[in-house]
Amino acid sequence: MKTRVGLVGGCLLIAALSLTACGNKPSETPSASVSANVDVPKLYQNYCISCHGNQLQGGQGPNIQKVGERLTEAEIVKRIQKGGGGMPPFQVTMKEEELKALAAWLSGLK
Ligand code: HEC
Repeated sequence: MKTRVGLVGGCLLIAALSLTACGNKPSETPSASVSANVDVPKLYQNYCISCHGNQLQGGQGPNIQKVGERLTEAEIVKRIQKGGGGMPPFQVTMKEEELKALAAWLSGLK
């Protein structure tokens, strides 16, 4: 019964994996570890640069070089998700971890 042995091995592996996942699940994921998987400059280039400029200096959209002085990370997440006032919404386009990483970076600009 070789198949059975294989199955048991698979279950053990899954159990081990979910253990690590469970041990590492704070209610609020720290932004640093979120950004680790996300290429923030590339996201900005892909989605934002056309309106906010290559130096965040603005253009069609406002200057966001010091947006962290005005808005919190949560406010920036909401802003990117919903858009408005001439800015398109990115809720569907971007993954949640991408949104968060981008907002975390922007909220640090002061
Ligand atoms: C089509 C042009 C356009 C694109 C693309 C765009 N924005 Fe905007 N953005 C705007 C405009 C216009 C505003 C100002 C809206 C207003 O006055 O309410 C704005 C406002 C903002 C604000 C608020 C600034 C403030 O000081 O209140 C943030 C933050 C922001 N954008 C971030 C982003 C990010 C991050 C991206 C990429 C994911 C992005 N924007 C893509 C046009 C754009």
